[in-house]
Amino acid sequence: MVKNFFLALIFFDFFTFTFSQCTNFGPDENCYWKGLDQTWFAAHVNCITIASIHNAILNSFIREYAQQLAIEEPFWIGGAVNYKNEWAWADLTNFTYTNWAPGEPKHNKIGYCIAQDPSSGKWKSTNCSEWHPTICSQLKSVPTIPCPEFFDHYSTVLNKCYSWEGTNLPTYDEMQQDCLNMNSTLVTVHNDVENAIVQGLAVAYDAPALLGLHDPYNNRSYVWSDGSKLDFQNWHDPPGDGDCAFLRIESMKWYPMKCADFQGDMSSELCEIPSLI
Ligand SMILES: *[C@@H]1O[C@H](CO)[C@@H](O)[C@H](O)[C@H]1NC(C)=O
Ligand SMILES: *[C@@H]1O[C@H](CO)[C@@H](O)[C@H](O)[C@H]1NC(C)=O
Ligand SMILES: *[C@@H]1O[C@H](CO)[C@@H](O)[C@H](O)[C@H]1NC(C)=O
Ligand SMILES: *[C@@H]1O[C@H](CO)[C@@H](O)[C@H](O)[C@H]1NC(C)=O
Repeated sequence: MVKNFFLALIFFDFFTFTFSQCTNFGPDENCYWKGLDQTWFAAHVNCITIASIHNAILNSFIREYAQQLAIEEPFWIGGAVNYKNEWAWADLTNFTYTNWAPGEPKHNKIGYCIAQDPSSGKWKSTNCSEWHPTICSQLKSVPTIPCPEFFDHYSTVLNKCYSWEGTNLPTYDEMQQDCLNMNSTLVTVHNDVENAIVQGLAVAYDAPALLGLHDPYNNRSYVWSDGSKLDFQNWHDPPGDGDCAFLRIESMKWYPMKCADFQGDMSSELCEIPSLI
């Protein structure tokens, strides 16, 4: 496996910095801090954990904290509709307490997450691709994610595990081989939620994501790394020349590109694997 130590160090420092600054402990002894204005999916990676709320006391604490931070618009907390079409917390704690606004949750399908209103403290089902401030949490006891070794990111929404590596490997085959060595494949995208999740990973690591999309015969017949069908497409330009394809963080669109042209630049090599549950 080729590791990029430079990028790894940046992220290590980023997280240690953030965590060592965390001084705002809640009634549950977890520590809370203000995350970026971002999609819920990017928050899920950037925060490591987003606040999950288990009782009215904690709900008031989080609302008051948001008010202190002068957050005036709805902000993300860690709830989302998961792969079973149930509301669940991203930190895998039980979803028992709720504080929905009247008429909520209006949307109960994958692609919706929970935003809390800072004035009322009530919750609304909100499109996870919207940009909102986030209240992140640093948990006293960190849950074990149901992922194999090397896979640090668990998506509760898809029940999939992802690993990230900074890479400037020159060929698709080498990058795919890196994933195969971990019994996984380069990332695949079959719908807009999956696209937004991969986008969230790329944004958090601040590098375009190499997709597991390949044109083996160089005749614009793209196939996914795991052999699955190309049933969703999100090209910026019509698929053109290029044996590789990247998801860029600025536009959220796919760009065909020759892998060789990417040599020397940094990209996110994302491998994916089913979870252990
Ligand atoms: C979560 O729910 C499960 C099943 O209902 C239960 O067995 C478990 O003890 C609960 N965990 C906590 C921390 O309350
Ligand atoms: C959420 O918003 C995005 C971007 O506006 C849109 O493409 C997507 O279809 C919406 N998702 C749902 C589940 O409505
Ligand atoms: C991949 O799978 C093989 C066969 O099941 C196993 O022997 C090997 O340890 C696995 N590799 C990793 C990195 O999990
Ligand atoms: C590309 O080439 C492969 C192998 O020769 C062939 O099976 C496929 O149909 C071709 N696709 C197009 C769009 O011509």
